[in-house]
Amino acid sequence: MDQVKINLEEHEIPKQWYNLAADLPTPMLPPVLPDGTVLQPQMLEAVFPRNLIDQEMSRERWIDIPEEILDILYRWRPAPLRRAVYLERYLKTPARIYYKDESVSPSGSHKTNTSVAQAWYNKQFGIRRITTETGAGQWGTALSFACHLMGIECKVYMVRVSFDQKPMRKTLMNLWGAQCVASPSPDTHAGRAILKEMPDTPGSLGIAISEAIEDAVSDKSGRTRYALGSVLNHVLLHQTVIGLEAKKQLAKVGIKTPDIVIGCAGGGSNFAGLAFPFTQDKIHGAKIDIIPVESAACPKMTRGEFAYDYGDVAGMTPLLPMHTLGHKFVPLPVHAGGLRYHGMAPLVSQAVVEGLMRPYAANQVESFEAAITWARTEGFVIAPETSNAVACVIKEAVKARDEGKEKVILFNLSGHGLLDLHGYEKYLSGNLEASCAPDEEIRRSLAQIVRTPEAPLRRTGRW
Ligand SMILES: Cc1ncc(COP(=O)(O)O)c(C=O)c1O
Repeated sequence: MDQVKINLEEHEIPKQWYNLAADLPTPMLPPVLPDGTVLQPQMLEAVFPRNLIDQEMSRERWIDIPEEILDILYRWRPAPLRRAVYLERYLKTPARIYYKDESVSPSGSHKTNTSVAQAWYNKQFGIRRITTETGAGQWGTALSFACHLMGIECKVYMVRVSFDQKPMRKTLMNLWGAQCVASPSPDTHAGRAILKEMPDTPGSLGIAISEAIEDAVSDKSGRTRYALGSVLNHVLLHQTVIGLEAKKQLAKVGIKTPDIVIGCAGGGSNFAGLAFPFTQDKIHGAKIDIIPVESAACPKMTRGEFAYDYGDVAGMTPLLPMHTLGHKFVPLPVHAGGLRYHGMAPLVSQAVVEGLMRPYAANQVESFEAAITWARTEGFVIAPETSNAVACVIKEAVKARDEGKEKVILFNLSGHGLLDLHGYEKYLSGNLEASCAPDEEIRRSLAQIVRTPEAPLRRTGRW
């Protein structure tokens, strides 16, 4: 029998995070303000604690993980690496498919890797309350759990469509003591303005972010900050424990480098967490096909533009250099709520511009088909976001079979789908649509990007 579970001992947990910014062959463009001046770290102080701002700006390659954070992570880390032999047999593929199982965390996804780190750094800085947005609810629950451990109050603005589709996510947040409201909400100026203009909007991550930031910065006590579950450098940094563990685990079964690395990509954090340590290898000469998989409902990397754009709908954030569909883009209400974000992390975007990564967009029907195949072979029920990655895994495994190639495919199982059964029910009753973003909608939204300053496409041409 092939080894299907590859585990690490507690003492083998990574003790440092890996920062890709130190190794990118073309340096990242800085965030800027609307007048084109470069953002200074102190300008973020109303939004984030200073210690996380330092991490956001850091170009150090390795950053120590504080012992107290490790002590929390031991609850579920090191996470298992598993081999999907039952899917391999079903597909009759010579490819070996390995996956990191991030669904084993308390809230059921990779998001806890950064939520505990962010809550810990906020606590160190004397913060008493944190606001945030959440798409499908995974980030909201992960932050609720972490804030509970730290004794920090937490308020979550949850995108309306997911709030309605996944009511149990709110219960989970309440269970860990957090407050959760549907966004757009009547609680903020940004929310009220959008409700007035579009009373029936399904909401978007961009809208929920505007609300959460407004809430944080308007607290006069100075003890509230905002936390983001993806996109930013420090969030991606915290997720790199995934890829660093995977490397050690693959080495245990004699694999130095996989041929293909795959992760679903909303803002880019779980994908980056797995892929960045392997991207470092690729920069140093390894041959790896690295594929971020986005939703065809929100295809910023495959059909958007690399440009300076806002991170939220109201334009409260600095302008970030990233692949974007325009900050006002409201994607179709697909079940993979965590992939409905208009932009991609600047670090991932720059790696895509450099040619180190090859994005793919999966539609909702092919993704649920893949999730059902997964559940009927491997047995586990995966999150709709994760199913986009699995659609790509199956495509690559079938290609390997057709070409007779023994590829090693590694992907990130970012979360379980036990609170996402509504989407499965729709698929099984034949009521699910592919939901690809219409060309016209994308054109209209891209036309609204300000494009000052221009974001040059800087690449070495090595990949
Ligand atoms: C299970 C799961 N996977 C993936 C994502 C996408 O986010 P990211 O691209 O930051 O990993 C989310 C976001 O909510 C999620 O809940």
